[in-house]
Amino acid sequence: MKNIVLIGFMGTGKTTIATRLAHRLGMKYVSTDDLIERRERRTINEIFKSSGEDYFRDVESSVIRDICCIDGQVIDTGGGAVIRDENLSNLKSNGIVICLTADEQTIMERTKKYKHRPLLNCEDPKRRIKDLLAKRAPLYARADHTIDTGKLTVRQVVEEIVRIVEESKSKKS
Ligand code: S3P
Repeated sequence: MKNIVLIGFMGTGKTTIATRLAHRLGMKYVSTDDLIERRERRTINEIFKSSGEDYFRDVESSVIRDICCIDGQVIDTGGGAVIRDENLSNLKSNGIVICLTADEQTIMERTKKYKHRPLLNCEDPKRRIKDLLAKRAPLYARADHTIDTGKLTVRQVVEEIVRIVEESKSKKS
């Protein structure tokens, strides 16, 4: 079984969905953010603060390079993983890539209570979300499939992904 890769903006539900999906399909859950923090032995906030975003992106690409060749994983990527072309092509080379989306308001609501995202720890997170969404929209559009999580329950999103995966398997056989 190839990998199932979730991409999408912060607050679109990647971690919740990926965890449940992995459980549902008996696959291994892997988070690129967790692997980055483990490799660096510091939090993402600390990495951004002391080493900068470019360094963080280098580690992110390196982690993706390492995991993409292993089969049978549900991969939960950080929202900015799509910024580098190399990452998306590595993830696509051994997996089906699904983008989760939500509207600005939903993202704002879902992210405002947390402080672990350096890009949103700013004076005007609403503006930042708007700007980043606009900038990244064409990159997220490169996914194989897109699901709007705004009006769906976790279970509905998981079942929709299972359906997409089954369908793509039957097309190949
Ligand atoms: C980022 C998203 C975060 C994390 C880092 C940068 C981004 O992951 O990788 O803070 O650039 O969108 P989540 O999407 O899981 O919050």
